[in-house]
Amino acid sequence: MFKMADRYGDAFSLHVPIYGPLVVVADPKLAKQVFTAAPDVLGNIQPNLSRLLGSGSVFALDNDEHRQRRRLLAPPFHGKSIKNYESIIEEETLREIAEWPQGTAFPTLPSTMRITLNAILRAVFGAEGAALDELRRIIPPWVTLGSRMAMIPNPSRTFGRYSPWGRLVEYRRRYDAIVDTLIANERADPDFENRTDVLALMLRSTYEDGSAMSRKDIGDELLTLLAAGHETTASTLGWAFERLSRHPDVLTALVAEAETGDNELRQATILEVQRQRTVIDAAGRHVHAPAFDLGDWSIPHGYSIIVSIARLHTDAELFANPDRFDPQRFVGTKPPSFGWLPYGGGARRCVGAVFANMEMDVVLRTVLRHFTIETTDAPGEKYHSRGVAYTPKDGGRIAVRRR
Ligand code: HEM
Repeated sequence: MFKMADRYGDAFSLHVPIYGPLVVVADPKLAKQVFTAAPDVLGNIQPNLSRLLGSGSVFALDNDEHRQRRRLLAPPFHGKSIKNYESIIEEETLREIAEWPQGTAFPTLPSTMRITLNAILRAVFGAEGAALDELRRIIPPWVTLGSRMAMIPNPSRTFGRYSPWGRLVEYRRRYDAIVDTLIANERADPDFENRTDVLALMLRSTYEDGSAMSRKDIGDELLTLLAAGHETTASTLGWAFERLSRHPDVLTALVAEAETGDNELRQATILEVQRQRTVIDAAGRHVHAPAFDLGDWSIPHGYSIIVSIARLHTDAELFANPDRFDPQRFVGTKPPSFGWLPYGGGARRCVGAVFANMEMDVVLRTVLRHFTIETTDAPGEKYHSRGVAYTPKDGGRIAVRRR
């Protein structure tokens, strides 16, 4: 996409197998038009992750069904509810970093993956004990396999239990059995009404017509939250460590700030990591209307439109010296609303954005308080595609000393 944008500019079309005819845009005005279009005009891009997650996933829904599901999902991911999860994140971070080696470089990504997985399993699934242990075992290999298969069309049969598709079916069978146990345990909890995990909130909430979420939709949606929230946040944290170890001035200032209750610079740093090392490089929509007017063009029904988020993040008109890692650019200034888009935009903007931001803030604060990160003048790590998210190729390697 970057090479084509260099050649053809900030709007071009191409034909991609599986997705069909596509228009790619990397201009803030066009991005705004795409993200603010009515949901009956632009729906979610097809195919999308719901092929793997199930028809009950929010990714599969459009129009009213999508709006209603978002209403149901939004409360646990906002303001007051988020506060409840902070202590879980801090606990998981402390547990993980207790094992960090000192003085030798190691990749942080496996650690950040475990922290974000455990955080979601506890805060979202409300899992504990044996169910938590089993989920911890099956999810990492399942997500790795699922990410690799995400862009490959589903075959009409599974090719046996040892084929990738057969293994995906088996993971799902084990996962469903655990979710049944979790639901039964939650319902049996005498304190069920006061539980704050997202599963309990889903079990307690109802749609506008009074109906509850079905068992299948709950399973699909929990899996969606896990798949969407785990690798993305972990990869961004991996990049954060990679960036900080190469920017001593920022690191020194962040360490000093972490001693205080402030987080202005840490927040600006998170925004800058998300700009300069974007882990989800694009968000897509599909034209449902007979045509969609976009800038000077009319995009026909059946086309998909991709907003190249990563490309927008390198736009020198939006971000001066875009190649420079400079958190100061976001101190005291909000990022441009349709230029800084790591969470996509509009009605489908990431439902977990506030959760992810809080999680990254708490993980960074905890690490900065307990360890000195050694700096390096090694070149930046290259990008590695895990299928959905882009991670630092060497896993965000750093060397640390306990403070
Ligand atoms: C740094 C971490 C994260 C990044 C970069 C990220 C990025 C994104 C992006 C780009 C989208 C597509 C938005 C669009 O189409 O306009 C998205 C959607 C979504 N994200 Fe995230 N995400 C992150 C963390 C999370 C977390 C922690 C959760 C939940 C626990 C989550 C749940 C979701 C869900 C459910 C959607 C689908 C929304 C819909 O279709 O209505 N994400 N995310």
